[in-house]
Amino acid sequence: MPIIRAEVWASEDDTRVFAQRLAAHPAVGGAFIELHGELGAGKTTLVRHILRALDIGGRIKSPTYAVVEPYETPGFPVWHFDFYRFNDPREWEDAGFRDVFATPGLKLAEWPERALGLLPSADLVIRIEAQEDETRHVLLKAQTPLGVELLP
Ligand SMILES: Nc1ncnc2c1ncn2[C@@H]1O[C@H](COP(=O)(O)OP(=O)(O)OP(=O)(O)O)[C@@H](O)[C@H]1O
Ligand SMILES: [Mg+2]
Repeated sequence: MPIIRAEVWASEDDTRVFAQRLAAHPAVGGAFIELHGELGAGKTTLVRHILRALDIGGRIKSPTYAVVEPYETPGFPVWHFDFYRFNDPREWEDAGFRDVFATPGLKLAEWPERALGLLPSADLVIRIEAQEDETRHVLLKAQTPLGVELLP
């Protein structure tokens, strides 16, 4: 049974604090995390804060055109996927995504619904909903024991 938590991020500061806590968790290096939400919900923003908290410097790109951006940390690799423009299932094999998901490391995926049926089941599903103000309503769904560990 999945475990669901609801949070409110009052500002991007809260997004950053959540990212820092997640990045500091010893289990994060083996997690697959899905990020759901409309355009501009704050998925990439959350990923950027996670990458920064993992001490990944330099330019953090939005992977929309490349589908995936790989990063290295001292402890584990990180892959930031954005499946927004993913529409050819053959790319899954051709681009080596199957191999990525067979490799240990942190995987973060925006627009995972566009690769439905190809992606494995996520440890943690994060759903971000932007409100009229800067506030974000956030649902965290843990679907595996690892995901439960990662919950606040
Ligand atoms: N509490 C908040 N958390 C995250 N982002 C916020 C927050 N408040 C405001 N923002 C702003 O909202 C925008 C979110 O854009 P972002 O690129 O992260 O969205 P996205 O969900 O990745 O969209 P897309 O589906 O187009 O990739 C950023 O400009 C960010 O600064
Ligand atoms: Mg994005």
